[in-house]
Amino acid sequence: MPASSAFSIAVLISGKGSNLQALIDAIKMQTLTASIAVVISNKADAKGLERARLSGIPTVVIDHTGHASRDTFDQALLTALAPYQPDLVVLAGFMRILSASFIHALQGKLINIHPSLLPLYKGTRTHQRALQDHALTHGCSVHFVTEELDGGPVIAQTEIAVLPEDTEETLAARVQKEEHQLYPLCIQWIINKKITLRNGKLFLADHTPLPPSGLKFRRSDYTHYALE
Ligand code: GRF
Repeated sequence: MPASSAFSIAVLISGKGSNLQALIDAIKMQTLTASIAVVISNKADAKGLERARLSGIPTVVIDHTGHASRDTFDQALLTALAPYQPDLVVLAGFMRILSASFIHALQGKLINIHPSLLPLYKGTRTHQRALQDHALTHGCSVHFVTEELDGGPVIAQTEIAVLPEDTEETLAARVQKEEHQLYPLCIQWIINKKITLRNGKLFLADHTPLPPSGLKFRRSDYTHYALE
């Protein structure tokens, strides 16, 4: 299906797809003025695929186990994305490390959400590591993707308190709640050009450079930053 004239997004998933659902819901609520052109999963049983189908969004499965190398898998991803010509490719729980050539092909058009206050806790098991460290706060970050794993310029983060009674599960659940607010908001900023990426650095519309940790939120800030 060709891309429509609306700002078009492709979403890459591997699992549950709750962030995908948050984007679908935000589009329905018109707080995100975009359309999802395609959802691509590397796993045929990803629950997020069902969410996409229920909303009439085209889905593609590219099973990474059917590819001998990362490069051929990533090439298959690019081939699948090509007909949709997305303005932005959104990683939403896509559990594959992407090759440099894939990242270069989508430079400035590829974003990710990560469950930590980057640069803290890159990689996996972020909630467990935050608890082991007795961190007082934790959260999530939305960032542009570069070759450095979880290392690209951060658009924004939401910080939450770690509670004394938190387990990995309760902390993960509270962080995810924030992700579902933060991801659509960041995408809308990109659409509205409130945030732009120039030479690997992020700027606000008035040309103010963003700090390395991006804009920092607490939950109560969302309404303040909502669409004007
Ligand atoms: C999220 O926690 C996200 O931060 C991480 O993967 C998880 C995906 O969850 N990158 P879901 O599939 O969107 O529910």
